[in-house]
Amino acid sequence: MESPQVSVPVPGPPPAAGAPVKVVVVVASVREGRLAPDVAGWFTALAGRRDDLGLDVVDVADHALPGSLDAQDPVAAALRPRLAAAEAFVLIVPEYNRSVPGPLKTLIDSFQAEWEAKPVGFVSYGLSLAGGVRAVEHLRQVFAEFHAVSMKDAVLFPRILDHYDAQGRFPAEPEGAEAAAKLLLDQLLWWARALRDAKSVRPYGS
Ligand SMILES: Cc1cc2nc3c(=O)[nH]c(=O)nc-3n(C[C@H](O)[C@H](O)[C@H](O)COP(=O)(O)O)c2cc1C
Repeated sequence: MESPQVSVPVPGPPPAAGAPVKVVVVVASVREGRLAPDVAGWFTALAGRRDDLGLDVVDVADHALPGSLDAQDPVAAALRPRLAAAEAFVLIVPEYNRSVPGPLKTLIDSFQAEWEAKPVGFVSYGLSLAGGVRAVEHLRQVFAEFHAVSMKDAVLFPRILDHYDAQGRFPAEPEGAEAAAKLLLDQLLWWARALRDAKSVRPYGS
């Protein structure tokens, strides 16, 4: 999937106070013929226009995590520094059976400290009018376990197929979504900066 302004983070010293916030965008569907790259492509193009954040895209389809979780697993080991370097996350998540796709849950369960005390935002979609909100609400419960802060406002795409044109293209500016994405990103960056400042004074102790 093409995405602009992608910087591959490496673990290092904490970011300077005014540095762009490191945001990892997680693309949560691995299905053959998935729509996820369309939604994720729209979101990363929009977010990539901002100079107050730097994006890294983690596509779950590129990382076949095992079902049982092993800290030594090479796939998890390769992903760990990218997730650890993130100061915030945005999950691009479809609703599957009123919840989240299984591979996303495996990804989440494969890590712990990497999610801890960080803000998490959601861009969700589905075929029904629910717009993926039930997957988002489940994820809020899951991320609470990591002391993560879930953003109040999400970007929801009900009846996702209605956004596609006759040629099967997802629009560059889906109706109403840009304002929702701005709200989400503004909230996310506020929390990321507030937590960056707090952690520079005192490491988070869970
Ligand atoms: C296993 C499965 C379960 C689904 N369950 C729901 C659901 O509960 N609610 C909904 O709105 N859409 C549901 N859908 C529709 C998906 O949200 C829709 O197909 C979406 O495009 C899936 O994302 P993807 O194409 O990126 O995989 C389901 C799809 C699949 C494959």
